Amino acid sequence: MSPIILVTLVLFQVYQLEAARILGVIPSAVRSHHIPFQPLWRELALRGHEVTVITTEPLNNSSLENLKELDISYCYEIYKKHKVVEAMASENNSYYDIAAVFKKAFVECHEYLLSSPGIQELIHNKDIKFDLLIAEAQLPTMFAFAWRFKCPSIAIASLEPALQFHDSLGNLVHPLISPDPNLNIEDDLNMSFMDRAKSFFYILLYKHLVYNKAYPSYDVLMKKYFGEELPTLKSIQDDISIMLVGSNPLFNSMRPTNLNTISVGGGMHAQPYKKLPADLQTFLDEGEEGVIYFSLGSNINLNLLTDNFKKAIVEAFAEVPYKVLLKMDGQLNNVSKNVLVRKWMPQQDIFRHKNIKLFITQGGLQSLQESVLNGIPLIGIPFFGDQFTNVNKMVKKGYGLKIDRSTITKNALVTAIKEVIQKPKYTETAQMMGKIFRDEEIPSLQRAVYWTEYVIRHKGAKHLRSPTVDMPAWKYYMLDVVGFLAFISLLIIVLIYLLIKVFIRLVIYIFARLFGKRKPKIKKN
Ligand SMILES: *[C@@H]1O[C@H](CO)[C@@H](O)[C@H](O)[C@H]1NC(C)=O
Ligand SMILES: *[C@@H]1O[C@H](CO)[C@@H](O)[C@H](O)[C@H]1NC(C)=O
Ligand SMILES: *[C@@H]1O[C@H](CO)[C@@H](O)[C@H](O)[C@H]1NC(C)=O
Ligand SMILES: *[C@@H]1O[C@H](CO)[C@@H](O)[C@H](O)[C@H]1NC(C)=O
Ligand SMILES: *[C@@H]1O[C@H](CO)[C@@H](O)[C@H](O)[C@H]1NC(C)=O
Repeated sequence: MSPIILVTLVLFQVYQLEAARILGVIPSAVRSHHIPFQPLWRELALRGHEVTVITTEPLNNSSLENLKELDISYCYEIYKKHKVVEAMASENNSYYDIAAVFKKAFVECHEYLLSSPGIQELIHNKDIKFDLLIAEAQLPTMFAFAWRFKCPSIAIASLEPALQFHDSLGNLVHPLISPDPNLNIEDDLNMSFMDRAKSFFYILLYKHLVYNKAYPSYDVLMKKYFGEELPTLKSIQDDISIMLVGSNPLFNSMRPTNLNTISVGGGMHAQPYKKLPADLQTFLDEGEEGVIYFSLGSNINLNLLTDNFKKAIVEAFAEVPYKVLLKMDGQLNNVSKNVLVRKWMPQQDIFRHKNIKLFITQGGLQSLQESVLNGIPLIGIPFFGDQFTNVNKMVKKGYGLKIDRSTITKNALVTAIKEVIQKPKYTETAQMMGKIFRDEEIPSLQRAVYWTEYVIRHKGAKHLRSPTVDMPAWKYYMLDVVGFLAFISLLIIVLIYLLIKVFIRLVIYIFARLFGKRKPKIKKN
């Protein structure tokens, strides 16, 4: 055999071993769920893997030849139709109301995507093969593809994943160490009695609803598309090899985790520096007294804001001696001359400008991370979900203040703005946090790529599977051992009781023998 053929064969084999077929699925019609993982899809494709992603946020980058995207952005329309964001942002809705709206939108989006031609082909064309599934740790549904392709799976979460996924990876779910981010806990490191009780009962109720109500209904839904032989989604979910999570103890609660759960919450979505558009550059350069950046993220539209809210921000910005960059999807009336309103702004590049002194945010995790990366202090105005907890934590750490959106006034906002910009402690704390945040062993994206390829190389990570996953609750809580101890204790108590009883009888008997003879004597007298 000629050396060239040999070399070609060896190279081919190496290629065969290393390049894998990867299926990624993020069905959420929420932009922030995609942002941290877009760099991962890109990086995996650039490394030669064949990546297919089912996504509501396609990158549309034709230079990435190995990346194939199945666009399901129509799910945004479905979310809009069901008013998902409105339901979340309404102050009158309970968790139940919000979950019910979400479920309707989820189910409709699933029905739509599962019956679409591209995905029907993935399900039914036996020639299609994948070596790895990467799916979002939110619903168990998409992990059905791991069963379909008989391949290992990785769960990913842009923020703190739902607790049933922690269950499946063998992570501790403890109401006091890691309260649910949606609970609006005031101080997760020092919880009040009410918060502790709330967290305890929340976990009980949540697990009951998830495992006894939601999962069986998702089983029915997915069997419709994958066939009756599809095992329960819970059992498929328990086979997840590893989980990549966007949470980080700087911004989230502590969570003791198994080795299969890897934090990639180190600003994986941080983009390389791009030049600012000329007009923004000029605006920022001229704001030497300081510039405020205001953005409520991609979900909060102008129509979700009350008139009182709009009035408060317009008047407050007119009064402060700073320039303001305001990201908003619609026309705000009567904004003063120092305010520049845009539908979209290159947030990360704006944060890199030295004149940005404050970020006013709704408190989404990625916004907080981007701000802290650049040492910028914040004012948080939370609207829904984990934003309350995120903002509470930010205030406790001391790099910003919180304002309640329903009671917001011009004066409260002006006071908060002046406090955060003029007192150096907020900026200093944000800069210190940024230093810790940037101090990573290896960058999060590299870590995510490493662990993804680790699962490909070893065809899963069974050796990291926690024994707790297969344990019934009575074993996990050691009820049998406790029962045994209780039984032994009972036995000992009974024994002691019997011994005391015998002893007392003995004493009575001895006394009776010693003094008993007198009685007749007394009687005689
Ligand atoms: C990608 O293409 C889709 C449909 O063609 C479009 O809706 C979407 O906005 C595009 N995304 C980006 C990031 O350009
Ligand atoms: C497309 O991907 C290539 C390779 O990563 C990158 O250099 C380029 O900037 C991307 N294009 C866009 C429009 O993002
Ligand atoms: C919420 O409830 C209050 C008082 O019951 C009511 O005034 C308000 O209009 C409600 N808000 C929404 C968005 O329904
Ligand atoms: C916890 O909170 C209580 C009451 O709010 C307070 O008295 C106590 O000092 C706090 N402990 C710590 C360690 O912060
Ligand atoms: C805008 O300003 C004008 C004149 O100052 C006033 O009449 C109008 O009510 C204001 N509009 C809003 C929405 O505040």
